[in-house]
Amino acid sequence: MRSVIDILDLTVEEIDALIATACAIIENPDDYAEACKRKKLATLFFEPSTRTRLSFEAAMMELGGNVISMASASSSSAAKGESVADTAKVISCYADIIAMRHPKEGAALVAANNASIPVINAGDGGHCHPTQTLADLLTIYREKGRLNDLTVGFCGDLKFGRTVHSLINALSRYTGIKIVLISPEELKLPSYVKKDVLQKKNIPYVQTTSLEEAMPDLDILYMTRVQQERFFNEEDYLRLKDSYILDLKKLENAKPDLSILHPLPRVNEISVAVDDDPRACYFKQVLYGKYMRMALILKLLKEASE
Ligand code: CP
Repeated sequence: MRSVIDILDLTVEEIDALIATACAIIENPDDYAEACKRKKLATLFFEPSTRTRLSFEAAMMELGGNVISMASASSSSAAKGESVADTAKVISCYADIIAMRHPKEGAALVAANNASIPVINAGDGGHCHPTQTLADLLTIYREKGRLNDLTVGFCGDLKFGRTVHSLINALSRYTGIKIVLISPEELKLPSYVKKDVLQKKNIPYVQTTSLEEAMPDLDILYMTRVQQERFFNEEDYLRLKDSYILDLKKLENAKPDLSILHPLPRVNEISVAVDDDPRACYFKQVLYGKYMRMALILKLLKEASE
């Protein structure tokens, strides 16, 4: 049974096909309005979410399917000690496909290994968030018309930000990508990502603490929130949380066609004044996430029925 746990579970050709499907849905949504009639999506969220859970649910509804939902661990039998493996077996009796978020890295893989239906990882701890990456890739593609020959800056919490790890992995398979890593010393990209992805694939990258110095070179600026929930120490979080705040002043040295992305939620790292700048793409990115999730649900359900 085909599941998507990591963005690398999808080939570049499959990602390109998902982008093409998402663009076709954007152009002709009525053509897809009954594509998943009589099918059920189960959203199992053991960790808070606004965008991912609701966009999966909106995606399934716009495909004519139905949704059953577990919005928190506390409202499920996980609170009584039921394992992820047993939960996956149980939900396989009710639904046709699962989207699952869990605070533990590897939990989605455990679910996939025990379910008899496709499982989509909707975020597992600090590890991966492949459907956010699909949203990011569609945003870049729609804004730039390409996914290669780009200088991409990642700014903020590069240590705990699973969306950063997934997007770097995805971009490493395209040509002409340069990466600029902008973070405080304590929140640098983990060495395993640098070694296993950037160095292994000869992707040029630089590390800096200065957003202002990096800004003029960037085609894409991917801002991130400092992930409070992954800190062991409140004092460290408070010291680091406002390390970078993107405002209009900092954008004065940016390219006129810069695209600013953020997986959201935003806390304080992008001033609301930036929202009206034509370079701000983060709310379009939210919408694109729904279309990419529609494309992925369609693909996995089709494969499961073959
Ligand atoms: N981008 C994202 O994963 O947002 P949520 O946590 O609200 O789902």
